[in-house]
Amino acid sequence: MAKQRSKKGKWYRELESKITGGKANAGVIGLGYVGLPLSIELVHAGYRVTGFDVSDQKVKLLNRGKSDIDDVPDSAVANAVKGNKFRATTDPKKLANMDTISICVPTPLSKTKDPDVSYILAAMDWVKRHISKGTLVVLESTTYPGTTEDLILPMLEEKGLKAGQDFFLCFSPERVDPGNATYTTKNTPRVVGGITPECTAIGKLFYEQSIPNIHGVSSTRAAEMVKLLENTFRAVNIGLVNEVAVMCDRLGLDVWEIIDAAATKPFGFMPFYPGPGLGGHCIPIDPHYLSWKLKSLNYYARFIELAGDINSHMPEYVVERIARMLNERASKALNKANLFVLGVAYKKDIKDVRESPALDVIQLLAKQGARVKYNDPFVPEIAWNAGSHRSQKLTKAAIAKADATVILTNHSSYDYQWIVDNAKMVFDTRNATKGIRRNRSKVELL
Ligand SMILES: NC(=O)c1ccc[n+]([C@@H]2O[C@H](COP(=O)([O-])OP(=O)(O)OC[C@H]3O[C@@H](n4cnc5c(N)ncnc54)[C@H](O)[C@@H]3O)[C@@H](O)[C@H]2O)c1
Repeated sequence: MAKQRSKKGKWYRELESKITGGKANAGVIGLGYVGLPLSIELVHAGYRVTGFDVSDQKVKLLNRGKSDIDDVPDSAVANAVKGNKFRATTDPKKLANMDTISICVPTPLSKTKDPDVSYILAAMDWVKRHISKGTLVVLESTTYPGTTEDLILPMLEEKGLKAGQDFFLCFSPERVDPGNATYTTKNTPRVVGGITPECTAIGKLFYEQSIPNIHGVSSTRAAEMVKLLENTFRAVNIGLVNEVAVMCDRLGLDVWEIIDAAATKPFGFMPFYPGPGLGGHCIPIDPHYLSWKLKSLNYYARFIELAGDINSHMPEYVVERIARMLNERASKALNKANLFVLGVAYKKDIKDVRESPALDVIQLLAKQGARVKYNDPFVPEIAWNAGSHRSQKLTKAAIAKADATVILTNHSSYDYQWIVDNAKMVFDTRNATKGIRRNRSKVELL
């Protein structure tokens, strides 16, 4: 293949000099788990950042110097606002002053499990109406291969603009892992793919100012696929280990012991752990973007569908195991049993309950007549059985009164020794009680 010659024109040179001279205005559309940490990193890199969101409430909160994202402290937002480095707005007209626009809006599934790209289209409608010449647009929302080129590019070209010359368009997947104190937006390497080589080059330059490790790929489609490979890899391996957990139960084996032992192999094995199911805005959703796209090409993505099937049945499996535990250990039925659930967030030490399997487990338990109460230090209120329920105090009496305590999320703040010592019996879906004196006649593991 002939190597494409780079044609760096007037708009490229102008944007390059603004970025390297610390004079670029960076816009971020969507100020959630992805967009807010990114905005703060861009501020730290020296950009003047404007955050755009449809939520008036969120915009007001941020402009008061407050954060609603666990990983971003209030002080980071307050300092950025005070130093005139960050403002949030609901006014799309301000996009006209932006040199770069990063789009970080949600990409959920529709009720029929098809990609819902309506948020991207709504954000792009703003961009299309207000973009100025010479702007870099980067889509960060996770989506199927082809979205940037097939949906976004035509919207901008409609205005008579040419990609790589009059504007620059890239896809760069966000990899942030909420609650992960080791890897943040700043120190997680980033992948960038542009519509043309000039788009990739300027996209890389933009992110290089704040993130040291940038990896360029040949196209926006390639960058979109990278993210789906990463998250499908997780979904499939979690599906595999969840099935191994079910198999180990049949075989009378402790799956956690098996995984720990297998993980001593220094090559060719990477431990994944079973649990009550998948949660969050990424792993349960993203692989379906890929399988949906493949269906349109007459290809059935078998691994994705199988893993999705196993993972989505884990809440039912957990309920079956709790029922068996009550029956075998206390001759009790699930119906009218008092259960105390610990943790409802989809993973430890965060407040996010999107797609949390804990909500499915609780709903299924309640459907079978169990009387469920819950505690989660991060989640004050959740809904089930058409009612709203508040997090209960974690007291000795509450634990001791319950027929069983069920650990669904392994928050670090829980004192697991105290829980096991005071509970009648414990069903632990996360191996959270590992490393404490656990009385095997009291604790049952997934
Ligand atoms: N949460 C994660 O861990 C994570 C990690 C990597 C990638 N992603 C991907 O990043 C994207 C964003 O996810 P998130 O978790 O930050 O979502 P989020 O729900 O936390 O935040 C999205 C924000 O966008 C705003 N918004 C919605 N429509 C808008 C519009 N038309 N214009 C302006 N603002 C709008 C919402 O009000 C909200 O503040 C998704 O595609 C997701 O798959 C998420």
